[in-house]
Amino acid sequence: MRKRYYLTTPIYYTNGAPHIGHAYTSIAADVLARFKRLDGYDVFFLTGTDEHGQKVEKTASEAGVEPQTFVDGIAAEFVDMTRRMGCSNDDFIRTTEGRHKAACTALWQRLEAAGELYLGVYEGWYAVRDEAFYGEGELVLGADGVRRAPTGAPVELVREPSWFFRLAAWQDRLLAFYEANPDFIAPAGTRNEIVSFVRGGLTDLSVSRTSFSWGIAVPGEPGHVMYVWLDALTNYITAAGFPDETAPRWAFWPADLHLVGKDIARFHTVYWPAFLMAAGLPLPRRVFANGWWTVQGEKMSKSLGNVVDPRDLVDAFGLDPIRFFLLREVPFGNDGDFSRRALIGRMNTELANDLGNLAQRSLSLIARNCGGKLPGRGEATDDDAGLLAAAEAIPGSVRLQLDRQAFHEALEEVWRVVRAANAYIDRQAPWALRRTDPVRMAAVLRVLADTLRVIATVLQPFMAGSMARMLDQLGVPEEARDLTALASPLAEGISLPPPVGVFPRFVENAA
Ligand code: MSP
Repeated sequence: MRKRYYLTTPIYYTNGAPHIGHAYTSIAADVLARFKRLDGYDVFFLTGTDEHGQKVEKTASEAGVEPQTFVDGIAAEFVDMTRRMGCSNDDFIRTTEGRHKAACTALWQRLEAAGELYLGVYEGWYAVRDEAFYGEGELVLGADGVRRAPTGAPVELVREPSWFFRLAAWQDRLLAFYEANPDFIAPAGTRNEIVSFVRGGLTDLSVSRTSFSWGIAVPGEPGHVMYVWLDALTNYITAAGFPDETAPRWAFWPADLHLVGKDIARFHTVYWPAFLMAAGLPLPRRVFANGWWTVQGEKMSKSLGNVVDPRDLVDAFGLDPIRFFLLREVPFGNDGDFSRRALIGRMNTELANDLGNLAQRSLSLIARNCGGKLPGRGEATDDDAGLLAAAEAIPGSVRLQLDRQAFHEALEEVWRVVRAANAYIDRQAPWALRRTDPVRMAAVLRVLADTLRVIATVLQPFMAGSMARMLDQLGVPEEARDLTALASPLAEGISLPPPVGVFPRFVENAA
């Protein structure tokens, strides 16, 4: 049986258009999904939209539109963003769908039957922007003398009837779970934060609201809608078929990986495992919290007018450079800063100069000097063997790095070999061998073609379109582009199509 892998992005709030922060997690997840498929896994890759709650209701009402109409419009934008970022998701869940309401209702009933819920009154602080409850002690005093959430979000005092989840009772079992599963929360900084938050003591969590109605009805309790985070987190099991545990997709649960932003780590590593344990369901294997992007040093905000729509970037620079840049520029887990300059810099050095030129030089020499046919392997010199060994090690080292979501390290492993191959071609100077030793020239070009084949194969998850073109030019048949295919050498003498540059230099238009 094939190994399974289930991974998710957060589901995005439908209160505004997609921006680069959303595209970031979706692209990261897509790279992992594609790599796992390349590595022989049966993958289920889920993304979607989080459409309920006070924030969405408020934004719709400010726009003077019915919430459902409003979210239909924004959800369509997220579907479009997902497609234009090249995502290969297997499903797109919307929390306003019937299947999701059914899953939330079933989960609620399980929690209630297990005695995990009780009716009371919530009196305390709520931040609509974060859709989060805050304790008095968590609030911070702003320079303006106004109390805010630790995230800077405005808070309001609410008092309303509410159902509660017995979260406090799960504190020790959560701590024991973190202890027994040291890889459950990553990176280490987030893990430490969460562990100390839970050690600090948990209070029962309000899981229903009565002051607005845009949500999933609490079964048997008119006037209550489920707290949007209980509703949202449930999406991960809805899409796997819950409550039908005989659904074929249920075989994918528990998820192998939830990718989330650092701001929502707490919901995924405290509330979510507690809900699942309380409902008697298996827990996800890992939650990785990525950092945030700023734009030229500033936080993105509508009021500053600096919100970057990833679709505009793709139109201007192409999809693959954007995907590459986002994952190459900053270690996943750290914050990063987006600037056109940094993007163009990476495009021109690493893509155009390092990889693009390597391919173009090697392939055009084969086209010119070998009659456009792939040469056979010669007797390997130490230099040949060194480069080939480095290339053959790439899939393993990339697998290792991607399993810890270290995208920039995975790319660095590849670029180490790209740079080694450039040094090799300069040392071997196959252009000069043409007259002096054509047999050796052919052998050198074959070493380069084989090295490029590994590089292009492994980079497919990052830059599918460009790498497909590179593999076409290397004569790699479409059915021989996964990791196992690398074990079978390409046949000598196959005709290669004329080489065409894959990564042109980007020249800023002065106009
Ligand atoms: N709806 C919730 C998630 C529910 S998951 C069960 C939510 N939505 S969100 O649209 O506000 O944010 C979605 C993701 O985008 C979060 O992981 C968040 O960290 C990420 N980002 C939002 N702005 C970002 C940046 N500026 N940079 C990087 N990621 C950012 O939270």
